[in-house]
Order: sequence, then C-alpha cells, then structure tokens
Amino acid sequence: MYSTVTTAPVKKTKRLRSTLLEDPSTLEKPWVTTKDPYARLAYFITVGIAFLGIAGSAVRCYFGYKSVPMINGNLCMVLDEEFNTDTNTVLGAGGNWFREIELGGFGNGEFEMTTDSTNNSYVQNGYLYITPTLTSDMIGSDNLYNGYTYNLTDCTYNITNPSALPSTSTTATSNDTTFDAAAYYASCGAVSNSTLGTIINPVQSARLSTRNSASIRYGRVEVSAKLPRGDWLWPAIWMLPVNNTYGAWPLSGEIDIMESRGNPASYPDQGVNYVRGSLNWGPLSFLNAVFKTFGWWTQRRSDYAQGFHTYVLEWTPEFLRIYVDSRLHYMLQLSFNEPFFTRGDFPTVVQNGTQDIVLQNPWVNGTNATPFDQPFYLILDLAVGGTNGWFPDNAGGKPWLDGSNTAMRDFALAQDTWYSTWGSVEDRSLVVDYVKMWQLC
Ligand SMILES: *[C@@H]1O[C@H](CO)[C@@H](O)[C@H](O)[C@H]1NC(C)=O
Ligand SMILES: *[C@@H]1O[C@H](CO)[C@@H](O)[C@H](O)[C@H]1NC(C)=O
Ligand SMILES: *[C@@H]1O[C@H](CO)[C@@H](O)[C@H](O)[C@H]1NC(C)=O
Ligand SMILES: *[C@@H]1O[C@H](CO)[C@@H](O)[C@H](O)[C@H]1NC(C)=O
Ligand SMILES: *[C@@H]1O[C@H](CO)[C@@H](O)[C@H](O)[C@H]1NC(C)=O
Ligand SMILES: *[C@@H]1O[C@H](CO)[C@@H](O)[C@H](O)[C@H]1NC(C)=O
Ligand SMILES: *[C@@H]1O[C@H](CO)[C@@H](O)[C@H](O)[C@H]1NC(C)=O
Ligand SMILES: *[C@@H]1O[C@H](CO)[C@@H](O)[C@H](O)[C@H]1NC(C)=O
Repeated sequence: MYSTVTTAPVKKTKRLRSTLLEDPSTLEKPWVTTKDPYARLAYFITVGIAFLGIAGSAVRCYFGYKSVPMINGNLCMVLDEEFNTDTNTVLGAGGNWFREIELGGFGNGEFEMTTDSTNNSYVQNGYLYITPTLTSDMIGSDNLYNGYTYNLTDCTYNITNPSALPSTSTTATSNDTTFDAAAYYASCGAVSNSTLGTIINPVQSARLSTRNSASIRYGRVEVSAKLPRGDWLWPAIWMLPVNNTYGAWPLSGEIDIMESRGNPASYPDQGVNYVRGSLNWGPLSFLNAVFKTFGWWTQRRSDYAQGFHTYVLEWTPEFLRIYVDSRLHYMLQLSFNEPFFTRGDFPTVVQNGTQDIVLQNPWVNGTNATPFDQPFYLILDLAVGGTNGWFPDNAGGKPWLDGSNTAMRDFALAQDTWYSTWGSVEDRSLVVDYVKMWQLC
C-alpha cells in the first residue's frame, strides 16, 4: 500500500496514411498478365520461412513454458471464504475478517477513515462489499470543516500497533507513561478547525484483515474481485508480516497483490484499466526499494471495474509471482536468486537530515527470500486519495498537492469534481466474490 509511483510510459498510437486512397481501377496490375518465372521458387521460400517461423515459435513457447517456475509441493488450505453467509458471521467477532478502525492515514496520508459500520463493509448475495460513503452524510458539512471533534469508538490502533504500547504491559491501561499518546490520537481522533485548515476525514470506508484468522509463510493466495470506479479511489489486496521479524516497515516487507486507481482510462498515471503488483522492502524506515520490484498488467479495451478478475500470489522459498487471471498476465515475477540487500543496490552511507547512517543489512542472517520468509496476513481495503504519491501531483485534475498542509481539505472542497464520478454503490465498491489462502506444506 505504501508506494513510490513509477508510471507507465504512455504509448502513442501511430496512424499510418492509408495506401488505398487512389482509385484501384486506375492502378496497373502487371502480374495479372505476366507470369513470373520465379513465382514458384518465391512461393516455396515464403512457405518454407513461414514454416521455420512456426516451428521456431513452438520451440520458444515450449522453453518459455518450461522456464515458468511452478509451486513444487503440497498446498494446504488455510482460508476458504466464499462470503456465502451474513455480514455478522463474516465480519463480526469470530469471523475471518478483522475491521481496522482508524483515521490517521495509515502512513500514506490517506483521506478516508475506516469504520466497522455496515455502511462501509457488508456481505450481500454472496459478495463482500467495501463501500466508500461521505462523512458529511453522518455529521453534516459544517461540522466537517469547523468546530467538531470526531473520536473513533473502538479505535483499533492499540491492536494493530502493539509496539506502541508500553513494553511492560500487554494490556493497555491509563497509567502507562511510555505510551505514545500523540500517535494514538493522530490515528483515533480528528478535530475540524477552519482557521487551522484541519477537517474530519471526508470519506468513510473499510479495511479488513485476516490478522486474527489466517496467515501463510509461502503458498498461494487467490482473490476474485471487481474493482471500484471513481476518481481517487485506491483499492488494494495486500499482505503485511504477522510479526515484524526484521524490524518495523519496510524492514520486514510488504506484498502488494493488487493496487489500482479508480480514475478513468484517460487518467495519465494508470487508471482503472491497470492493476499493479509489488514488493515493498528496505533497510531503513525511509528507504523503500519498491521501485526494484513492481510491475503491472493492463487491458486495452476494457478495465478492471467491468467485471470480476482473479488476483493471485504464488510464493515459495525460490520465487514469487503476482498475476491476474492467468500466469501469462503476470504483474511481478521474481526469482529469489540473490539477497534482497544486494538486489537493493543501496549506497553504503545514507543521509538522515544532518546525520550520516552507515547502512546495515537487516537480513544478513537470512536467505535469498528474506524478509519474505515469515508469515504474512491478508488485507482488503479501499482507500481514498493520500499524500504519498500514489496519485502524482498536477495530473488528471488532482485537486490537492501532496506537500500541502491542507491537502485533505482541498480534496474535500473539490467534492463536486470527484463524487459525481463514483456512481452507484455497485460501481464505487470493491466487490469480492471469494478469498482463498493456501500454505505450502
Ligand atoms: C449509515 O449512514 C447513514 C447516513 O447515510 C447514517 O444515518 C447511519 O447512522 C449509518 N449507519 C451506521 C451503522 O453507521
Ligand atoms: C481553531 O484554532 C484556532 C487557533 O488554534 C483557535 O484560536 C480557535 O479557537 C479554533 N477554533 C475552533 C472552532 O475550535
Ligand atoms: C490504547 O492504549 C492507551 C495506553 O495504554 C490507553 O490509554 C487507551 O485507552 C487505549 N485505547 C483503546 C481503544 O484501547
Ligand atoms: C495503575 O496505577 C494504579 C494506581 O497507582 C495501580 O494500583 C495499578 O497497579 C497500576 N496498573 C498498572 C498496570 O501498572
Ligand atoms: C478526541 O480526538 C482528539 C483529536 O485527536 C483528541 O485531542 C482528544 O483527546 C480525543 N478525545 C477523547 C475523549 O478521546
Ligand atoms: C509472533 O510473535 C508472537 C510473540 O512473540 C508469537 O507468540 C507468535 O507465535 C508469532 N507468530 C508468528 C506467526 O510467528
Ligand atoms: C532519522 O532522523 C530522525 C529525526 O532526527 C530520527 O527520529 C530517526 O530515528 C532517524 N532515523 C534513523 C533510521 O536513524
Ligand atoms: C546475525 O547473527 C549474529 C550471530 O548470531 C548476531 O550476532 C547478529 O546480531 C545477527 N544480525 C542480525 C541483523 O540479525
């Protein structure tokens, strides 16, 4: 989900002038009357070359096929979620999905707050829906911009950030002194103040994870989903480590199986006709080498909001592949043939402000798969906007600048430009048909 954006070069279609502009009846056709003595020879040469071409591509296909690494071993199913029961069974206590309730932007400056409301996540007719709604529908427009304090009930920050809790206690209590209250309140409460330019997160959405139900260390994940359409919507199917074995993000890695943008195909930085897969990893909190390990697939005449597609992760100690529908449509295919520290090609010394830091390899005792050699759980979410560069500045009519203190307010004030593109609940939701996870066993 955390991401540095590298955009696809936009291919310009070259239009060639038609060669049929002249009246064909006025053209000379010498071959109709004159027999070419070399015609026969030319015929055999042509057919011969064509045959060699076909044989050659068959050989190429065969070796191409043979070189596609496959999971070698048994897969044991750890999660089979068809969404065939009701919301409470699936999303309530004891269900497979844990709803994260936060509003601090999840490290990306995202503009949505995530809720446990059935307005934002629910099961209907065998599908899971994650639906973005307007906060102003709940608290009114005036409150959004000024004089309102919004405190999340049952904020899950303490659960998802156990490292923020005092090391001496696993249960949060009011007399903890080392607790980072500022970080907690930044994720669990918001105040609108028109003088300061702060607002309450203008959109409500959901973020669901299997952190309490399922995780895998190598194996396969398969998610059938229809992506949302609408400007600045950012759906994601992705994974985080259960335990940060090698340190906090991105030291322990992140696996993005699918990320997209709900903007139309005309959007210059890859709209809803693109899906992307990537790995995030790096030796320092501000050194993420995602640009070494990402890719995408695209559709020319359709997009990923028009129907269901299957997003798949295949992951073993030897390789990792992320694809959509077919292995031929891979977004990322990586052989674990060198240590990640080598793959990163990092400088030996990096600057942190005025401080020089000599880089240490946090995975020095691992294998070529490290940090992707520990259990990861799955997350499904639908974010909106953000200031981390997923939506680059000054492109596609983006109504905010990432560096602005009032980015979220600028986004909210432009509601007329984006809300009209969201369409019906069906169109603007991330709709999931099923989720399956297998452990390599
Ligand atoms: C759902 O949204 C409506 C307004 O759109 C609001 O009145 C209602 O309280 C919300 N329900 C929940 C469970 O949050
Ligand atoms: C907004 O912030 C300003 C500056 O801190 C403060 O003076 C003012 O009272 C605040 N307004 C509201 C409505 O809280
Ligand atoms: C989170 O932990 C802090 C510190 O222990 C505590 O004050 C706060 O009430 C906890 N919040 C929740 C929602 O559990
Ligand atoms: C919190 O403080 C109270 C009163 O000083 C004390 O009795 C209690 O043991 C403390 N709780 C923890 C978990 O330290
Ligand atoms: C509500 O959230 C605001 C902003 O984070 C915070 O300053 C305030 O202490 C919170 N109030 C309560 C009762 O948690
Ligand atoms: C994560 O760490 C906790 C506490 O050390 C441990 O109990 C648990 O087994 C670990 N989980 C995994 C999947 O490694
Ligand atoms: C970078 O500098 C900031 C601010 O001084 C500090 O909080 C942080 O810990 C430093 N990061 C590293 C990896 O040294
Ligand atoms: C690697 O292993 C050595 C020896 O056990 C240990 O001293 C060192 O701290 C380990 N390094 C890391 C980064 O885990």
